[in-house]
Amino acid sequence: MYDRFNRKINYLRISVTDRCNLRCTYCMPECGVDLISHSDILTFEEIHEIVKVSVSLGIDKVRITGGEPLVRRGVVDLVKMIAGIPGIKDFAMTTNGVLLDQFAEPLAQVGLQRINISLDTLNPEKYKAITRMGDIQNVLKGIRAAKEAGLLPVKINCVIKESPLEDDAREVAVFCKENDLEVRYIKEMDLEKGVFSRVIGGDGGHCESCNRLRLTANGKIKPCLFSDLEFDVRELGVEEAIYRAIDSKPKSGTENKQNKFSNIGG
Ligand code: 5AD
Ligand code: SF4
Repeated sequence: MYDRFNRKINYLRISVTDRCNLRCTYCMPECGVDLISHSDILTFEEIHEIVKVSVSLGIDKVRITGGEPLVRRGVVDLVKMIAGIPGIKDFAMTTNGVLLDQFAEPLAQVGLQRINISLDTLNPEKYKAITRMGDIQNVLKGIRAAKEAGLLPVKINCVIKESPLEDDAREVAVFCKENDLEVRYIKEMDLEKGVFSRVIGGDGGHCESCNRLRLTANGKIKPCLFSDLEFDVRELGVEEAIYRAIDSKPKSGTENKQNKFSNIGG
């Protein structure tokens, strides 16, 4: 599938829940956010069908995100269902890693190929402050488990204020080098104000070569992270929602006042 600007669209990012077991300051207010009601959340069968149709239309790269995907009950079963769809060449997940110690092995066994884990600092107190509740030891255990399970390459997503030369970012770089992890720096963004930036060491935010569509946990296909545009698969049907999303994919992002990182998965 190609869009109006001749970009090949082959990547679908699926948010499987808007819930999270952390409250990172740059992502959520302390009290949490308005949550999608349970009845609006796509079932595993619906997600499976959407991915099947997407793959038949040319998607060959799939990522599971959240919120925090590992808090969705039965997520391993969902991963297994998606892994069973022929034609997916790259199948990954983005997680905060808190529950990964217990999930890495089962996820790898049902066909997840690789994983990205969020880690902005190595300082336990700072980690607790940024996430408002997290224990960094859980993430470090999760990273180890992911490597042991063979979810390679394990990539680390590190949110920075301005520069990868900040102290925390540099410490994360050293840690990654010592532990065979690939680090990607993401400058803190503001969807509402349209403040976005390119991922340093990754493909995100490069509008001119953007190959992505997003699926929200309540079934909207979004052509761009920095746009309010969305197409409801339950209203339009999967194919029509995908075609409309591709036909309206903007040349570059502007702003998104409707979504939060917590329901669109970054
Ligand atoms: N700016 C940049 N990245 C963010 N993420 C969440 N909120 C923001 C933000 N405001 C990142 C997380 C995680 C990924 C899913 O999105 O750190 O790595
Ligand atoms: Fe949760 Fe990720 Fe948002 Fe942090 S950034 S609150 S881990 S969804």
